[in-house]
Amino acid sequence: MAFILRAFILLFFYTFVWNLSCITPLFSSSTDEYSDVQCLKSIKDSLEDPFNHLTWTFEHLTAGSFCNFVGVECWHDQEFKILNLSLSNMALKGKFPQGLEHCKSLQFLDLSGNHLYGTIPLEISQNLPNLISLNLANNSFSGEIPSTLANCIYLNMLELDHNQLTGQIPQQLGQLGRIRVFNVSNNMLSGPVPNFPVPEESYANNTELCGEPLKPCEGKGGSFKFDFSFESGFVAGFVFSAVSFIISFVSCVCFGHI
Ligand SMILES: *[C@@H]1O[C@H](CO)[C@@H](O)[C@H](O)[C@H]1NC(C)=O
Ligand SMILES: *[C@@H]1O[C@H](CO)[C@@H](O)[C@H](O)[C@H]1NC(C)=O
Repeated sequence: MAFILRAFILLFFYTFVWNLSCITPLFSSSTDEYSDVQCLKSIKDSLEDPFNHLTWTFEHLTAGSFCNFVGVECWHDQEFKILNLSLSNMALKGKFPQGLEHCKSLQFLDLSGNHLYGTIPLEISQNLPNLISLNLANNSFSGEIPSTLANCIYLNMLELDHNQLTGQIPQQLGQLGRIRVFNVSNNMLSGPVPNFPVPEESYANNTELCGEPLKPCEGKGGSFKFDFSFESGFVAGFVFSAVSFIISFVSCVCFGHI
């Protein structure tokens, strides 16, 4: 009885895995386009657009016609997937559009110069893992910068300046090896800055940021202090063990001969 049950469960499991591995790819190519249309629809529905900049209409859509919408750029003529979404300075109002989760192929997102508020969602890296450029500057975003942005490993440009962001800059962002442009100026951030090759201006007008290229951090949590104490502790420990080794070696040799 138990054997049959086990066999049954195994069979069920294999069928399930087979479904996942074989059926999903068959569907996904045909649902990509649908997904990107969903993305645009839900962005339009979720934002106030007082000047009707988003002249997007979804009736009588032909294949890939949404690629010609204002602010939308697709991968290329045959590939109806959104590469670049640029909705800057349109006086759009609302929260970070949840619907962007359907724009899976997006690499460039510019929502700067609008009236967007609320937090930058934690799921951003899960939903938009291929981002190369993210520009949310000149809005009213508040709360902390999500540390999950460190998972957007292709990021070259991250512009969060002129918002109302608070708290510390997540140190994990220092892992973003491709960062060329990073701007968090004009927020209310404090604490140590990540280890980036960016100029001082990137951090201007915040509450109290510190660390290279700004003034060194004082007291606990300053990476310089930590490195220093670690290094001096290491040197002291090394000298101590070297000296005790020599003493015991010498005394050993001397007493051995007596
Ligand atoms: C994205 O689109 C905007 C507006 O059409 C354009 O100015 C910008 O250069 C584009 N970015 C890239 C990387 O193609
Ligand atoms: C944000 O606003 C400032 C000042 O109004 C302006 O200098 C800057 O170019 C704007 N940045 C973006 C990305 O729109």
